[in-house]
Amino acid sequence: MIDSISDEELDALMQALKNRYGLDFTNYEKKSLKRSIVRLMMKHRMSSMLELWAKILKDKEFFEKGIDDLLVNLTELFRNPDAWIVIRDSILDYYKAKSRLNVWHAGCSTGEEVYTMAIVLEEKGMLHKTKALATDLSSIALKKAKAGDYSLIIVEQYLKPFLAFYPNRKLADFFNFKESHATIKPSYQSHVTFERHNLVHDAMSTKHDIIFCRNVMIYFDEKLKLQVLELFYESLNDDGFLVIGYYDIMPDSGKALFEVYDVKTRIYKKRKIKKQNR
Ligand SMILES: C[S@@+](CC[C@H](N)C(=O)[O-])C[C@H]1O[C@@H](n2cnc3c(N)ncnc32)[C@H](O)[C@@H]1O
Repeated sequence: MIDSISDEELDALMQALKNRYGLDFTNYEKKSLKRSIVRLMMKHRMSSMLELWAKILKDKEFFEKGIDDLLVNLTELFRNPDAWIVIRDSILDYYKAKSRLNVWHAGCSTGEEVYTMAIVLEEKGMLHKTKALATDLSSIALKKAKAGDYSLIIVEQYLKPFLAFYPNRKLADFFNFKESHATIKPSYQSHVTFERHNLVHDAMSTKHDIIFCRNVMIYFDEKLKLQVLELFYESLNDDGFLVIGYYDIMPDSGKALFEVYDVKTRIYKKRKIKKQNR
């Protein structure tokens, strides 16, 4: 079984994917892409890059499922509860008086982050005035997000972060439980539009007050991170907030666009004027 991939092999495969399917992974962080490719090959018991190459370029269905393995869809409800506490107790208060709130979840994966925000908005009495846009590159993840339907095995894993946030509440307050599944209640879903959107090359035509892009840019190199941060800057209203993930690192070049709001929870605020010294 293959356990390492050279830069040349990776570049050649990514170039072929770009030509064949129009998906550009050339500015994704190489180490994590390599790890994901090795995992994909092990899963399908493939012993050479050539075998993967032939399969991925010939078989579109395999490619679409394989892409999900490459993209790492890991997520959870109330991921990093500290961040949700700052959002509830500080950021949302900032918008209390505003009549509408627009939120973009970029890289929403299977929807848990979107429903966490909906639950927090409901608690603050702000859900009715919120419009959320939830986007991802993966159609498979988006389909699951839209369904808002999770196996009980997964939901059980969410109990710990959920209780860290709401020690006195039950998941059944927000989900309908049925046999082996739990489905988000419709009232936490009707404000959301789910759309396929590729952060590498798709534009964004609407403006938002809060953008979440958590645990997505960790897979991007510095050049792509800055390009995506520019997109977020342009897609935020003045004074808007950008929430990134716990392991995301704001590149120095991005600090010209965003200032720190809360360093511990990786929450940033759009600068009024871009700093020039980049
Ligand atoms: C680890 S998940 C993060 C989910 C959620 N934001 C969270 O923090 O729990 C990363 C997501 O980014 C998506 N993604 C990766 N590259 C992307 C791109 N170029 N455009 C849009 N989404 C992308 C993946 O499909 C995946 O669902």
